[in-house]
Amino acid sequence: MSKRYAKLPLSKSFLMEFNYGIKHPFEAVKKISSVIKHRELYLKTRLIQGPLSWDAGIMLHNIVMESKHPSLNVIEAGSYQGRSTIFLADAAKKKGKKVYSFDWFKGLDDVNPTIDTKYRQYNGLISDKEKFERNLKNANLSDVVEITVGDARKTLLPKITSGGFSVAFLDVDLYDVTQELLKQLMSIATGGEVIIVHDLDWPGIEKAVREFSLSYKSKIEHTITKADDSLNSIIFKIGHSA
Ligand SMILES: C[S@@+](CC[C@H](N)C(=O)[O-])C[C@H]1O[C@@H](n2cnc3c(N)ncnc32)[C@H](O)[C@@H]1O
Repeated sequence: MSKRYAKLPLSKSFLMEFNYGIKHPFEAVKKISSVIKHRELYLKTRLIQGPLSWDAGIMLHNIVMESKHPSLNVIEAGSYQGRSTIFLADAAKKKGKKVYSFDWFKGLDDVNPTIDTKYRQYNGLISDKEKFERNLKNANLSDVVEITVGDARKTLLPKITSGGFSVAFLDVDLYDVTQELLKQLMSIATGGEVIIVHDLDWPGIEKAVREFSLSYKSKIEHTITKADDSLNSIIFKIGHSA
């Protein structure tokens, strides 16, 4: 292990993984083999703070690796300190793709108090561009990531002007933002894309996803729900009639 990794303090993500392992010992054993398989990625991500589990990160990595969509663009909204970005970018680099990340680094700043009822537990999600860029640089992935700072609802479509996207990951925690970004992604989807939405157990996210599933029923080829603690995501595969 490099000295740089050894000197850093334990991250919240690492403690979260540790607590999960204590509660789910069989899952923890499975995780060890996954960590051995992806040990470089583990070293790059284990000290990056962020509420994304190792399993969810590997799920993102695998989805990018397995995507057959021709677009070279991978989209991420809600980057925080870059934990999910590194999982996406490591796979993007191997596949010759690029990650377009979007964050305003203000945390959960645009809360709808009646819908985003879980936000209070997480109001510390404020980060900054410098920390994000430093984490990507340390992971040797800066060359395949472009961060756009601002409200993703205003910055995403102007940035993705051509080429569409193959995979999009939404992790913005808020109802209004998730609802709007899903609509925007569908406006540029041509078919075969994969959209992953994190934090399915948040009432606002569950509502945005439920409404999206109903509105775009005819355009969604299939949906996979990963409702367990560790993955807590929903995956939409967009059909070719999109
Ligand atoms: C849960 S964190 C993302 C965690 C990250 N994916 C990780 O793996 O660590 C949610 C992020 O969404 C960002 N966010 C929320 N609303 C936003 C908006 N309208 N535009 C851009 N970023 C937003 C917040 O600043 C915060 O960094």
